[in-house]
Amino acid sequence: MNSTKYALVTGASRGIGRAIAIKLASQGYSVIINYASNSEAAQQTLNDIVAAGGQAELLPFDVSSSESVASALDSWRAAHEGEHISVVVNNAGIRKDNLMMWMPEAEWRSVLSTSLDGFFNVTQPLLKDMLVHKWGRIVNVASLSGIKGMPGQANYSAAKGGLIAATKALAQEVAKKRVTVNAVAPGFIKSDMTADLNEAELKKLVPAGRFGEAEEVAELVAFLVSDAAAYITGEVISINGGIYT
Ligand code: NAI
Repeated sequence: MNSTKYALVTGASRGIGRAIAIKLASQGYSVIINYASNSEAAQQTLNDIVAAGGQAELLPFDVSSSESVASALDSWRAAHEGEHISVVVNNAGIRKDNLMMWMPEAEWRSVLSTSLDGFFNVTQPLLKDMLVHKWGRIVNVASLSGIKGMPGQANYSAAKGGLIAATKALAQEVAKKRVTVNAVAPGFIKSDMTADLNEAELKKLVPAGRFGEAEEVAELVAFLVSDAAAYITGEVISINGGIYT
Protein backbone atom coordinates (compact mmCIF):
# COMPACT_ATOMS: atom_id res chain seq x y z
CA MET A 1 0.00 0.00 0.00
CA ASN A 2 1.34 3.45 -0.88
CA SER A 3 -0.53 5.78 1.50
CA THR A 4 -1.64 4.87 5.00
CA LYS A 5 -4.97 3.09 5.12
CA TYR A 6 -6.78 3.19 8.43
CA ALA A 7 -8.85 0.26 9.66
CA LEU A 8 -11.10 0.64 12.70
CA VAL A 9 -11.86 -2.57 14.61
CA THR A 10 -14.45 -2.31 17.37
CA GLY A 11 -14.10 -4.39 20.53
CA ALA A 12 -10.48 -5.10 19.59
CA SER A 13 -8.93 -5.44 23.04
CA ARG A 14 -9.43 -9.21 23.14
CA GLY A 15 -10.84 -12.27 21.39
CA ILE A 16 -11.85 -12.15 17.74
CA GLY A 17 -11.46 -8.36 17.50
CA ARG A 18 -7.90 -8.52 18.80
CA ALA A 19 -7.03 -11.25 16.26
CA ILE A 20 -8.54 -9.14 13.46
CA ALA A 21 -6.60 -6.05 14.56
CA ILE A 22 -3.33 -8.00 14.60
CA LYS A 23 -4.01 -9.56 11.20
CA LEU A 24 -4.95 -6.27 9.51
CA ALA A 25 -1.87 -4.57 10.99
CA SER A 26 0.28 -7.37 9.54
CA GLN A 27 -1.23 -6.55 6.14
CA GLY A 28 -0.08 -2.93 6.37
CA TYR A 29 -3.16 -1.24 7.77
CA SER A 30 -2.80 1.35 10.47
CA VAL A 31 -5.23 -0.14 12.95
CA ILE A 32 -7.50 1.84 15.24
CA ILE A 33 -8.15 -0.36 18.25
CA ASN A 34 -11.52 0.47 19.78
CA TYR A 35 -12.42 -0.78 23.23
CA ALA A 36 -15.06 0.10 25.80
CA SER A 37 -13.34 -0.25 29.17
CA ASN A 38 -10.48 -2.76 29.20
CA SER A 39 -7.62 -0.34 28.55
CA GLU A 40 -4.96 -2.80 29.73
CA ALA A 41 -5.95 -5.47 27.22
CA ALA A 42 -6.29 -2.86 24.47
CA GLN A 43 -2.79 -1.56 25.27
CA GLN A 44 -1.47 -5.13 25.10
CA THR A 45 -3.00 -5.54 21.61
CA LEU A 46 -1.35 -2.28 20.57
CA ASN A 47 2.02 -3.35 22.03
CA ASP A 48 1.86 -6.69 20.20
CA ILE A 49 1.13 -4.93 16.89
CA VAL A 50 3.94 -2.42 17.35
CA ALA A 51 6.38 -5.17 18.45
CA ALA A 52 5.61 -6.98 15.19
CA GLY A 53 6.45 -3.81 13.22
CA GLY A 54 2.86 -2.67 12.65
CA GLN A 55 1.02 0.58 13.28
CA ALA A 56 -1.88 1.03 15.69
CA GLU A 57 -3.54 3.48 18.02
CA LEU A 58 -6.22 3.27 20.70
CA LEU A 59 -9.66 4.86 20.40
CA PRO A 60 -11.94 4.09 23.34
CA PHE A 61 -15.69 4.50 22.94
CA ASP A 62 -18.91 2.67 23.68
CA VAL A 63 -20.38 1.54 20.35
CA SER A 64 -23.88 1.58 21.80
CA SER A 65 -23.75 5.32 22.47
CA SER A 66 -23.95 7.52 19.38
CA GLU A 67 -22.60 10.49 21.39
CA SER A 68 -19.59 8.49 22.58
CA VAL A 69 -18.85 7.29 19.03
CA ALA A 70 -19.30 10.75 17.48
CA SER A 71 -17.02 12.50 19.93
CA ALA A 72 -14.30 9.82 19.55
CA LEU A 73 -14.45 9.99 15.75
CA ASP A 74 -14.37 13.79 15.85
CA SER A 75 -11.24 13.75 17.97
CA TRP A 76 -9.66 11.15 15.65
CA ARG A 77 -10.36 13.38 12.64
CA ALA A 78 -8.94 16.42 14.42
CA ALA A 79 -5.72 14.51 15.07
CA HIS A 80 -5.50 13.10 11.51
CA GLU A 81 -6.14 16.01 9.20
CA GLY A 82 -6.69 15.00 5.59
CA GLU A 83 -6.90 11.30 6.42
CA HIS A 84 -9.88 9.01 6.71
CA ILE A 85 -10.93 5.56 7.86
CA SER A 86 -11.52 3.29 4.88
CA VAL A 87 -12.07 -0.03 6.66
CA VAL A 88 -14.39 -0.74 9.56
CA VAL A 89 -14.89 -4.08 11.25
CA ASN A 90 -17.95 -4.03 13.49
CA ASN A 91 -16.91 -6.71 15.93
CA ALA A 92 -18.06 -5.44 19.35
CA GLY A 93 -20.83 -7.58 20.75
CA ILE A 94 -22.21 -9.02 23.96
CA ARG A 95 -24.31 -12.03 24.95
CA LYS A 96 -27.00 -11.97 27.64
CA ASP A 97 -28.64 -15.35 27.22
CA ASN A 98 -32.01 -16.08 28.75
CA LEU A 99 -35.23 -17.76 27.75
CA MET A 100 -37.48 -15.02 26.45
CA MET A 101 -40.02 -16.00 29.07
CA TRP A 102 -37.57 -14.74 31.73
CA MET A 103 -35.83 -12.00 29.78
CA PRO A 104 -35.96 -8.52 31.32
CA GLU A 105 -36.21 -5.66 28.86
CA ALA A 106 -32.71 -4.49 29.82
CA GLU A 107 -31.19 -7.75 28.50
CA TRP A 108 -33.07 -7.34 25.24
CA ARG A 109 -32.06 -3.71 24.80
CA SER A 110 -28.38 -3.97 25.78
CA VAL A 111 -27.68 -6.78 23.32
CA LEU A 112 -29.55 -5.02 20.51
CA SER A 113 -27.90 -1.69 21.23
CA THR A 114 -24.38 -3.14 21.19
CA SER A 115 -24.53 -5.21 17.98
CA LEU A 116 -27.19 -3.44 15.97
CA ASP A 117 -27.19 0.20 17.12
CA GLY A 118 -23.41 -0.14 17.40
CA PHE A 119 -23.20 -1.02 13.71
CA PHE A 120 -25.21 2.10 12.81
CA ASN A 121 -23.47 4.42 15.27
CA VAL A 122 -20.00 3.51 14.00
CA THR A 123 -20.62 2.92 10.29
CA GLN A 124 -22.91 5.83 9.43
CA PRO A 125 -20.38 8.59 10.23
CA LEU A 126 -17.67 6.78 8.22
CA LEU A 127 -19.68 6.19 5.05
CA LYS A 128 -19.30 9.63 3.51
CA ASP A 129 -15.50 9.47 3.38
CA MET A 130 -15.59 5.98 1.85
CA LEU A 131 -18.05 7.13 -0.82
CA VAL A 132 -16.11 10.31 -1.60
CA HIS A 133 -12.84 8.34 -1.94
CA LYS A 134 -14.62 5.57 -3.87
CA TRP A 135 -13.19 2.73 -1.81
CA GLY A 136 -14.20 1.15 1.44
CA ARG A 137 -14.62 -2.11 3.28
CA ILE A 138 -17.23 -2.79 5.95
CA VAL A 139 -17.20 -6.18 7.65
CA ASN A 140 -19.79 -7.03 10.28
CA VAL A 141 -19.22 -9.83 12.76
CA ALA A 142 -22.61 -11.54 12.92
CA SER A 143 -23.19 -15.09 14.16
CA LEU A 144 -24.65 -18.48 13.40
CA SER A 145 -27.41 -17.38 15.82
CA GLY A 146 -28.35 -14.56 13.45
CA ILE A 147 -28.90 -17.04 10.61
CA LYS A 148 -30.47 -19.94 12.46
CA GLY A 149 -31.91 -18.41 15.61
CA MET A 150 -30.84 -20.06 18.86
CA PRO A 151 -33.06 -20.85 21.84
CA GLY A 152 -32.06 -18.80 24.86
CA GLN A 153 -30.76 -16.10 22.54
CA ALA A 154 -33.81 -14.26 21.18
CA ASN A 155 -32.03 -10.96 21.85
CA TYR A 156 -28.67 -12.02 20.36
CA SER A 157 -30.31 -13.77 17.37
CA ALA A 158 -32.40 -10.66 16.66
CA ALA A 159 -29.35 -8.39 16.92
CA LYS A 160 -27.23 -10.55 14.62
CA GLY A 161 -30.11 -11.27 12.24
CA GLY A 162 -30.76 -7.54 11.99
CA LEU A 163 -27.07 -6.95 11.37
CA ILE A 164 -27.15 -9.45 8.50
CA ALA A 165 -30.18 -7.76 6.92
CA ALA A 166 -28.57 -4.33 7.29
CA THR A 167 -25.39 -5.71 5.67
CA LYS A 168 -27.36 -6.79 2.60
CA ALA A 169 -29.26 -3.49 2.36
CA LEU A 170 -26.24 -1.23 2.77
CA ALA A 171 -24.20 -3.32 0.30
CA GLN A 172 -26.67 -2.44 -2.45
CA GLU A 173 -26.61 1.26 -1.53
CA VAL A 174 -22.84 1.68 -1.84
CA ALA A 175 -21.66 -0.96 -4.33
CA LYS A 176 -21.22 1.50 -7.23
CA LYS A 177 -18.71 3.47 -5.15
CA ARG A 178 -16.46 0.41 -4.66
CA VAL A 179 -17.47 0.05 -1.03
CA THR A 180 -18.20 -3.55 -0.06
CA VAL A 181 -20.28 -4.60 2.93
CA ASN A 182 -20.15 -8.18 4.13
CA ALA A 183 -20.87 -10.18 7.25
CA VAL A 184 -19.05 -13.12 8.75
CA ALA A 185 -21.08 -15.56 10.80
CA PRO A 186 -18.92 -17.53 13.22
CA GLY A 187 -20.15 -20.65 14.97
CA PHE A 188 -18.34 -21.65 18.16
CA ILE A 189 -15.04 -19.75 18.45
CA LYS A 190 -12.76 -19.96 21.50
CA SER A 191 -12.90 -16.63 23.34
CA ASP A 192 -14.03 -15.05 26.61
CA MET A 193 -17.55 -15.02 25.18
CA THR A 194 -17.65 -18.81 24.91
CA ALA A 195 -15.52 -19.55 27.99
CA ASP A 196 -18.62 -20.48 29.99
CA LEU A 197 -19.83 -23.02 27.41
CA ASN A 198 -19.31 -26.78 27.70
CA GLU A 199 -16.82 -27.17 24.87
CA ALA A 200 -16.45 -30.94 25.27
CA GLU A 201 -20.19 -31.42 24.73
CA LEU A 202 -20.79 -28.69 22.15
CA LYS A 203 -17.93 -29.68 19.87
CA LYS A 204 -19.86 -32.89 19.17
CA LEU A 205 -22.31 -30.68 17.23
CA VAL A 206 -19.51 -29.43 15.00
CA PRO A 207 -18.64 -31.63 11.99
CA ALA A 208 -15.01 -30.44 12.23
CA GLY A 209 -15.01 -31.72 15.82
CA ARG A 210 -13.62 -28.61 17.45
CA PHE A 211 -14.24 -24.96 18.29
CA GLY A 212 -12.68 -22.44 15.91
CA GLU A 213 -9.84 -20.03 16.69
CA ALA A 214 -10.15 -16.25 16.63
CA GLU A 215 -7.25 -16.19 14.15
CA GLU A 216 -9.30 -18.27 11.69
CA VAL A 217 -12.04 -15.62 11.73
CA ALA A 218 -9.37 -12.94 11.30
CA GLU A 219 -8.10 -14.64 8.11
CA LEU A 220 -11.59 -14.49 6.61
CA VAL A 221 -12.05 -10.85 7.57
CA ALA A 222 -8.65 -9.97 6.09
CA PHE A 223 -9.65 -11.58 2.81
CA LEU A 224 -12.94 -9.65 2.69
CA VAL A 225 -11.02 -6.43 3.32
CA SER A 226 -8.47 -7.14 0.57
CA ASP A 227 -8.64 -5.92 -3.02
CA ALA A 228 -8.99 -9.55 -4.07
CA ALA A 229 -12.51 -9.56 -2.57
CA ALA A 230 -13.71 -6.48 -4.49
CA TYR A 231 -16.55 -8.37 -6.19
CA ILE A 232 -17.94 -9.93 -3.00
CA THR A 233 -20.56 -7.77 -1.36
CA GLY A 234 -23.80 -8.24 0.55
CA GLU A 235 -22.65 -11.74 1.54
CA VAL A 236 -22.83 -13.58 4.83
CA ILE A 237 -19.97 -16.04 5.12
CA SER A 238 -20.31 -18.75 7.72
CA ILE A 239 -17.20 -19.90 9.56
CA ASN A 240 -18.40 -22.67 11.79
CA GLY A 241 -16.60 -25.96 11.10
CA GLY A 242 -19.40 -27.31 8.96
CA ILE A 243 -22.52 -26.73 11.06
CA TYR A 244 -25.24 -26.71 8.44
CA THR A 245 -27.35 -23.57 8.51
P1 NAI B 1 -15.35 -11.14 23.53
O1 NAI B 1 -16.37 -10.98 24.59
O2 NAI B 1 -14.00 -11.60 23.87
O3 NAI B 1 -15.20 -9.80 22.68
C1 NAI B 1 -16.19 -8.86 22.52
C2 NAI B 1 -15.52 -7.52 22.53
O4 NAI B 1 -16.50 -6.49 22.33
C3 NAI B 1 -14.86 -7.23 23.87
O5 NAI B 1 -13.59 -6.69 23.65
C4 NAI B 1 -15.78 -6.21 24.50
O6 NAI B 1 -15.13 -5.34 25.38
C5 NAI B 1 -16.27 -5.47 23.27
N1 NAI B 1 -17.47 -4.71 23.53
C6 NAI B 1 -18.62 -5.15 24.12
N2 NAI B 1 -19.50 -4.14 24.23
C7 NAI B 1 -18.88 -3.05 23.70
C8 NAI B 1 -19.29 -1.70 23.54
N3 NAI B 1 -20.50 -1.29 23.93
N4 NAI B 1 -18.42 -0.83 22.95
C9 NAI B 1 -17.20 -1.25 22.54
N5 NAI B 1 -16.76 -2.53 22.68
C10 NAI B 1 -17.61 -3.40 23.26
O7 NAI B 1 -16.01 -12.15 22.49
P2 NAI B 1 -15.62 -12.57 21.01
O8 NAI B 1 -15.96 -13.99 20.90
O9 NAI B 1 -14.26 -12.14 20.64
O10 NAI B 1 -16.72 -11.76 20.18
C11 NAI B 1 -16.42 -10.90 19.11
C12 NAI B 1 -17.63 -10.83 18.19
O11 NAI B 1 -17.84 -12.11 17.62
C13 NAI B 1 -18.94 -10.46 18.92
O12 NAI B 1 -19.70 -9.61 18.10
C14 NAI B 1 -19.65 -11.81 19.04
O13 NAI B 1 -21.03 -11.65 19.09
C15 NAI B 1 -19.19 -12.49 17.76
N6 NAI B 1 -19.31 -13.93 17.77
C16 NAI B 1 -18.55 -14.71 18.62
C17 NAI B 1 -18.69 -16.06 18.59
C18 NAI B 1 -17.88 -16.97 19.46
O14 NAI B 1 -18.13 -18.19 19.44
N7 NAI B 1 -16.92 -16.48 20.23
C19 NAI B 1 -19.64 -16.73 17.69
C20 NAI B 1 -20.35 -15.84 16.84
C21 NAI B 1 -20.20 -14.49 16.89
